[in-house]
Amino acid sequence: ATARRSPEGGLIKVDAEGTVYDDARGEIRARFTDKGVACTKLEGGRLSVKKVAKTFEFKTDTKIPKVGLMMVGIGGNNGTTVCATVLANRHNISWSTKNGPVQPNYIGSLIRASTLRLGFDPETGKDVNIPFSDVLPMVHPNDLVLGGWDISAMTLDKAMSRAQVLDYDLQRQLFPLMQKMGKPLPSVYYPDFIAANQEDRADNLIEGTDKWQHLERIRKDIRDFKAEHGLDKVVVLWTANTERYSELIDGVNDTAENLMNAVKASHEEVSPSTLFAIASILEGCPYINGSPSNAFVPGCIELAEQHKAFIGGDDFKSGQTKLKSVVAEFLVNAGIKPLSIASYNHLGNNDGKNLSSQRQFRSKEISKSSVVDDMVAANPLLFKPAEELNAEAAAKGVDGEVTKKGEHPDHLVVIKYAPAVGDDKRALDEYYSELLMGGRNTLSVFNICEDSLLATPLILDLTILAELMTRVTYRQLPSADVPEEQVADVEFQPLYSVLSLLSYMLKAPLVKPGTDVVNSLNRQRNALETFMKACLGLEHNGDLLLDTRVW
Ligand code: NAI
Repeated sequence: ATARRSPEGGLIKVDAEGTVYDDARGEIRARFTDKGVACTKLEGGRLSVKKVAKTFEFKTDTKIPKVGLMMVGIGGNNGTTVCATVLANRHNISWSTKNGPVQPNYIGSLIRASTLRLGFDPETGKDVNIPFSDVLPMVHPNDLVLGGWDISAMTLDKAMSRAQVLDYDLQRQLFPLMQKMGKPLPSVYYPDFIAANQEDRADNLIEGTDKWQHLERIRKDIRDFKAEHGLDKVVVLWTANTERYSELIDGVNDTAENLMNAVKASHEEVSPSTLFAIASILEGCPYINGSPSNAFVPGCIELAEQHKAFIGGDDFKSGQTKLKSVVAEFLVNAGIKPLSIASYNHLGNNDGKNLSSQRQFRSKEISKSSVVDDMVAANPLLFKPAEELNAEAAAKGVDGEVTKKGEHPDHLVVIKYAPAVGDDKRALDEYYSELLMGGRNTLSVFNICEDSLLATPLILDLTILAELMTRVTYRQLPSADVPEEQVADVEFQPLYSVLSLLSYMLKAPLVKPGTDVVNSLNRQRNALETFMKACLGLEHNGDLLLDTRVW
C-alpha cells in the first residue's frame, strides 16, 4: 500500500468557491480565512475578546519535481537506514526473520502511514479518512535520489553492516545496491565540535583548513549532485553527530554579514553544521538540522531570511521526547500537576558514544529539556507564573524579583553509553504528579526505541514536507470575496524561512524569532493538517461534530 502514488494533480477535488484548479499552469489556488480570537486584558483581570480574521490565498504548484536528498552523515546509522529503506521499498525487497517474511514499508511515517479526517460521507454520516500523502501532491519517498557526505570513507554497504540496525537477510539482499551508491562525499571535520572519540572515523575529509574554501566545495557538491541526477530540487539534512553548541559571539555569528565574514576568516566558532546550512541557503536548498546543535546561530537565520531560503530544526523527535510531549500534555490538560519528570537513557550506537562526552551531551540535554515548557505555561492554575511568585514574595517583604521563571516541574535528563544495547535505545521516564487532596501518582514508562527505525521515517517526512513547502506560496487578500481583478497585482510570496510547521518531527522546534514554541504533539499535528487543508481552501473541521449533538 505504501508504494501507491496519488493520481496526477492530487486525489482530492474541492468543489468550492475560492478554490481553483488550474491544470494548464499546474496549480491549485485556494482562498482561506484564518479565524482567531484576540484577547485583551482589562482592569480587574477581565478579558475583552474580539473575533479576528485574515484572508489568504494559497497557491500550490502541483507538478511533483524530481528531488534529491543529501544527508550530512549518510554513513551513520540513520543515513544508511534511510538509504536501505528507500532501496528496499523501491525494489520491493522482502526478507525473512524468525517471525516470518517482512514486506518493505514506511511504517512510522506521518505522510505515508497515517491518515487525517477529511470530512464525512453524506450518505452514511461516517467519517472519511484519507492518507496524509493524498491531501496535496507530494514526492514519494521511493523517488528520492539519495546522496551525501560523511567523514567516514566506508562504502554504504559496509556502513549499513556497521550500523547493526537491519536484519541480516535484508542487508544481504541490499549489499549490491548499497555498494553501487559507493562512498560518501568527503566532508569537513572540525574535531572540537564532536567528541574526541569520533576521531578514528574521520578518514574522508575535504582538504585544507580554509572554511571559505570548504563552503565553496560543499556548494559545488550540491550543484554537481543536482546536475548529475537531473534534479529539480535538493533538500540537505544534517544527520551527522551531535556537535557541541557554538559560542554566540557578537560580531561573529550574530548577523548574516558577520557570519559570512567569520567564514572568510575561518573563525573557530563556525561549526560544520552551520557551514552546511550556509551552503544550502546560498544554493536555495531547504536545510534541516536533525541534531540538537545550535547550527542555526542568529546570523544563519538572518541569512536564510535574506535569501528567502527554508530552514527547519532542531533534533529529530523520535522516541522519548515524542512520548513525553504526549504524556505531559495529558497530565496537565487533565488538571493533574507533574512535580517531577525524570528521564534516563542508555544507548549503544555511535551517537551514544559521541554523547558520552560532556559538551555534546549538553546540546542533547538542552534540546530534550524544554519540551514541557509551553504546556506548563498554559496552565497557571497548576503552575504559578513568575509574576505571581514575585508578588507573593513581595507580600512577605522580600526585596526585588525572586524569579524570572514560573513554577515548573523538576526536569532531569540523563544519557549513558552502553554499547551492548546498540541502536535499541532504552528510555526510562518517571512522571511524579500531585493528585486531588494531596495524593500522589507515579507513572513509569520503559520505552525501547529502535532509534534509526524511528528516525528514518521522520527524515523522509521532513524532506517531503520541506519540499512541499517550497511549492506553496501565499498572498493576503482584503476579503474572502474580493474579485480577482482587484487583487491581480498582489504578488504571491514564499512562506517564512523557518519552517515551524515541521515541529511535529523535531524535538526543539525552531520557530520565527519572537514567537511561541508549540511542543504539544497534538497541536503540532493539527497545525500541519490545518495548513494542508487550507491550501485546498478547506476549513479545519475540529471535533465539534454538531450533527451528532443536536436533534
Ligand atoms: P551515527 O553516529 O551513527 O551517524 C553519524 C554520522 O555522521 C557518522 O557516520 C559520522 O561519521 C558522521 N559525521 C560526523 N561528523 C560529520 C561531519 N562533520 N560531516 C559529515 N559526516 C559527519 O549517528 P545516528 O544514530 O545516525 O544519529 C545521527 C544524528 O541524529 C545525531 O546527531 C543524533 O543526535 C540525531 N538524532 C538521532 C535520533 C535517532 O533516533 N536515531 C533521534 C534524534 C536525533
